[in-house]
Amino acid sequence: MDDTQGRTTKDGIRIYDQSDFAGMRASSQVTAQILDEVADLVEPGVTTAALDAFIERRVGELGATSATIGYRGYQHASCISVNHVVCHGIPGDKKLKDGDIINIDVTVILDGWFGDSSRMYVAGNLSRKAERLIQVTHDSLMVGIEQVKPGNTFGDIGHAIQKFVESNRMSVVRDFCGHGVGKVFHAPPNVLHYGRAGSGAMLEEGMIFTIEPMVNLGRPETKVLADDWTAVTRDKSLSAQFEHSVGVTADGCEIFTTSPAGRFHPTWR
Ligand code: MF3
Ligand code: CO
Ligand code: CO
Repeated sequence: MDDTQGRTTKDGIRIYDQSDFAGMRASSQVTAQILDEVADLVEPGVTTAALDAFIERRVGELGATSATIGYRGYQHASCISVNHVVCHGIPGDKKLKDGDIINIDVTVILDGWFGDSSRMYVAGNLSRKAERLIQVTHDSLMVGIEQVKPGNTFGDIGHAIQKFVESNRMSVVRDFCGHGVGKVFHAPPNVLHYGRAGSGAMLEEGMIFTIEPMVNLGRPETKVLADDWTAVTRDKSLSAQFEHSVGVTADGCEIFTTSPAGRFHPTWR
């Protein structure tokens, strides 16, 4: 990697070129393929450690490496966040139960490019309230992505997401945000999922970042458990999240982490 190449905006946001977009496309499609494949394994009785083991194996088989193994001491190829876990759930020996909703978040590195995405999955039967939460969370990401074009600001993205979520009487988590991505895992800017229209840095062609709203059925507050990773809702309400890595184009954006099998939304089943 050569950090001296390319341009960085006054806000410290890197501007990438067409060949960089090709690199992001390739790594992100590995992530998306693995997220497609793991869907077949999600069912009551399976452990989140088993899901993570599958993911770790497929990352290697597809010629990539895990961005999360060894990242700040994290030891797994995925974060798996069940029910009231907001994000950064650690895979373990607990078995999924009927009706559990889970987010699986995978980041791979291929040829130096980081592809970061997460989706929701369901074990067994989905309750009506969980279905609504998943739908609103998915749609909030898409509403945010609709704002991604040169001339809009990062505040436009956050504002659109917050307005959509709150109009559905759910809440947006403030304690975690999206981020610049590309040749590094977490780069400027912080991509907030709430905020004021027109605020924040201006979007420019060539920027690459994630949008990854976390939405709660109850209040937005979170806390991190004693393991220093697992973030949960303080009020124990259900939480959901979807994440795409996107790049700003001349007239909109490219979603790098689209599902090759059309399985991004869990109602594909
Ligand atoms: N993939 C997460 C994100 O969306 C980060 C996970 S870091 C880990 O930014 F160490 F918890 F895996
Ligand atoms: Co991310
Ligand atoms: Co992620």
